[in-house]
Amino acid sequence: MKVTVNRKAHFNAAHRLYNCEWSDSRNADVFGKCANPNYHGHNYELIVAVTGEIHPDTGFVMDMKILKKIIREEIEDYFDHKNLNEEVPEFKTLNPTAENISVVIWNKLRSKIDLKSELSVTLYETPRNFVIYKGE
Ligand code: NI
Repeated sequence: MKVTVNRKAHFNAAHRLYNCEWSDSRNADVFGKCANPNYHGHNYELIVAVTGEIHPDTGFVMDMKILKKIIREEIEDYFDHKNLNEEVPEFKTLNPTAENISVVIWNKLRSKIDLKSELSVTLYETPRNFVIYKGE
């Protein structure tokens, strides 16, 4: 029997979507306002889902106090109020799209959560646009 526990989190960050191999006009065509050289911000909403067996001793899949602390230390403290392109090393050469941010978040969390549990990251870049990464 497997159960999924979920924890919501939040961070604000700025980014610019840009492919340095392309001309400014092609970047503007593909990325629109997101290619703005002066950056722009998003209120990112994150849902971290951990799926596993219920431990008989605790009745928990995972202690949510521990999950909350991992998310705060690994994700919120790391991304909040940052310029992703300029201040987060993972995005020095990686375009900080919601897709790529979700993969970076998943990789940072995976090493901190019991490998017997499955991990899924859902990242909302806007209230209507969101991506899901499950490590596949
Ligand atoms: Ni954007």
